[in-house]
Amino acid sequence: MDTKEKFFKSGIKGFDKLLGKGIPIGSSVLVEGGPGSGKTIFCLQLANNACLNGKKVLYMSFEEPEKKLKEHMQGFNWNPEKFEKQGLLRLKRFRAIDISRSVEAMLSEAKRELLIDIHPILMPKDFSPDIIIVDSLSSIAAAFSGKESRFRIYMEQFFRYLERSNITSFLIREVAHPTHLGMTYSEKGEVISFLADGIIGLYSIIERYGKRSSAIEVLKMRGINIKRKIVEMKIVENKGIVVYPNSILGEKLKTTFSLT
Ligand SMILES: Nc1ncnc2c1ncn2[C@@H]1O[C@H](COP(=O)(O)OP(=O)(O)OP(=O)(O)O)[C@@H](O)[C@H]1O
Ligand SMILES: [Mg+2]
Repeated sequence: MDTKEKFFKSGIKGFDKLLGKGIPIGSSVLVEGGPGSGKTIFCLQLANNACLNGKKVLYMSFEEPEKKLKEHMQGFNWNPEKFEKQGLLRLKRFRAIDISRSVEAMLSEAKRELLIDIHPILMPKDFSPDIIIVDSLSSIAAAFSGKESRFRIYMEQFFRYLERSNITSFLIREVAHPTHLGMTYSEKGEVISFLADGIIGLYSIIERYGKRSSAIEVLKMRGINIKRKIVEMKIVENKGIVVYPNSILGEKLKTTFSLT
């Protein structure tokens, strides 16, 4: 990667306007939202755009298999196979249970928790990405059920690894209820919100008469003067996500949650 480059742009129409200069390279950014709010498509789209700019992207899926992710991309007329052949894109499915087992094994071997090195657990050795996407942290957390402190240790190591390697990361987190966005509510991943440099929130909104629409927001981005507003977003056939930075969530929309 060009070492002079300091900011990452998502290339998602309208979205970058919320971010000013862009996302500082090396940031870890949470992509949070409820089920079906567009988290996976948002990340696949920025992966696609990054590859178009010659960046190397590792998409780590703990939910959908590689084939499904490719189909989603092809559904928007993107060409994941071309990028795979060029060595720019790696879509890979992982099993969360393998991670929790490895962490367990390494902890008992190392005896000292600080000795865990997450590198061998996850990262393909023959691919050094500029961008990592994890879909999702919630799936990983579920595999640590009953062992929350292990998950916390693992996450701390993972964030540290990302920081060390100057990799820009997008970490999907499913939130049960949108008011929890960006908050350190009591769930397994509570440590995550303050470890992350940025938070992007996706919302599924109920309009009057039962129509649903989508919205997006940048909740935080360290070092960047973000536009503080929740704006309209659409998932468009053959195109992907389009964000309307001037269409602020207004009074005509009755949301599923309180925005105040
Ligand atoms: N080709 C398409 N054209 C238009 N809309 C689509 C297309 N493909 C998917 N969608 C819509 O996008 C929505 C969001 O999908 P996505 O898989 O990104 O959500 P998600 O937040 O990752 O959900 P989950 O929590 O289940 O993983 C889907 O519910 C679907 O309605
Ligand atoms: Mg998803």
